[in-house]
Amino acid sequence: MSNSPNIVLGIESSCDETAAAVVSDGQNVHSSVVASQDALHEKYGGVIPEIASRAHVEAMVPVAQEAVEKSGFTKEDIEAAAVAHRPGLAGSLLIGLTFAKSFSLAMDIPLVGTDHLHAHLYASMLEHEITFPAVGLVVSGGHTALFLWKDILDITLIGSTIDDAAGEAFDKASSILGLGYPGGPYIERAAQQGDKARFDFPRTFIRDDTLKFSFSGIKTAVLYHCQGHSQGKGEIRDMDGQEINDIAASFQEAVTDVLAAKVQKAVHETGARSVAAGGGVVCNTRLREKISETCGVDVYFPSPVYCIDNAAMIAGLGCHLLQAGVKHDLFLDVDSEPVRMKPDKRIF
Ligand code: KG4
Ligand code: ZN
Repeated sequence: MSNSPNIVLGIESSCDETAAAVVSDGQNVHSSVVASQDALHEKYGGVIPEIASRAHVEAMVPVAQEAVEKSGFTKEDIEAAAVAHRPGLAGSLLIGLTFAKSFSLAMDIPLVGTDHLHAHLYASMLEHEITFPAVGLVVSGGHTALFLWKDILDITLIGSTIDDAAGEAFDKASSILGLGYPGGPYIERAAQQGDKARFDFPRTFIRDDTLKFSFSGIKTAVLYHCQGHSQGKGEIRDMDGQEINDIAASFQEAVTDVLAAKVQKAVHETGARSVAAGGGVVCNTRLREKISETCGVDVYFPSPVYCIDNAAMIAGLGCHLLQAGVKHDLFLDVDSEPVRMKPDKRIF
């Protein structure tokens, strides 16, 4: 990467984490700072966009400053700014994009916009050498998508959710069960004490011939189960700790069954030589186990700090984009549109 910018400041603000990182050579992480807003959104059981935007405004400059300080470089050493500009919450994305544009203008360095989901895949490359072609799975609070990843910058969407993201289902199930936010870690902890075979929650599309997902049905199934009847009305009934743990375990089993089955199908259909997964839900140990056991090829999972939203993945991918000659000007805009396949579109 000698002729293109090498020391890159990455900026991430697509949802409810304000993050900045300094990465060189696309792989050496000198600093990675993440300011989480979980405490602000906890009482609502989900991200409130306006609260998220305001918190990004407050955190962005100090977080970027801290990332530069911790990296051991000065701001004058930074050779480019990379920023997640899609997809995500428009107001949140705008804060990071505006900061990155301002920084690149003030320091007279190139600006490059990156796709947040591509960056979640790239997170695996911060720690592993990937064997291409790979199947890429991104599964987070806002997204559930499958990609054919032929080379670092050659990424094609091959499947996606038609409604909720898997992480969203974890968050909703956790809220119904009276556990905390974000739901994934709470569900995983409760599931460790639970019976995963006790309840049979829906595994939507698990055996159909597409690579699409749907997680709204399982969320409703958990809700109806906890209300004690199937009409969708009324209060959550009192449940003992064991039942809560069993629901968590049965829920986690159903969601991870579907994710692992679709990854296996994607590997089979594409002939991929490996699987790389990213996004907050990939912190889940049961999901990692199942994908490793069933997909039949090498698997790469980022460390948990690089699964959740972070800016090291943005800076790393940004290095490669810059190397490939991609640069953006100050007209770069945000694109909040979620990544979706058309519902019945088949790639193969
Ligand atoms: O990637 P991420 O930090 O943000 C988005 O881009 O959405 O992912 C956050 C999501 C949340 O829905 C959270 O519940 C889920 O990742 N998550 C988990 C676990 N840790 C975080 N889901 C399942 N098991 C976990 N251990
Ligand atoms: Zn994300």
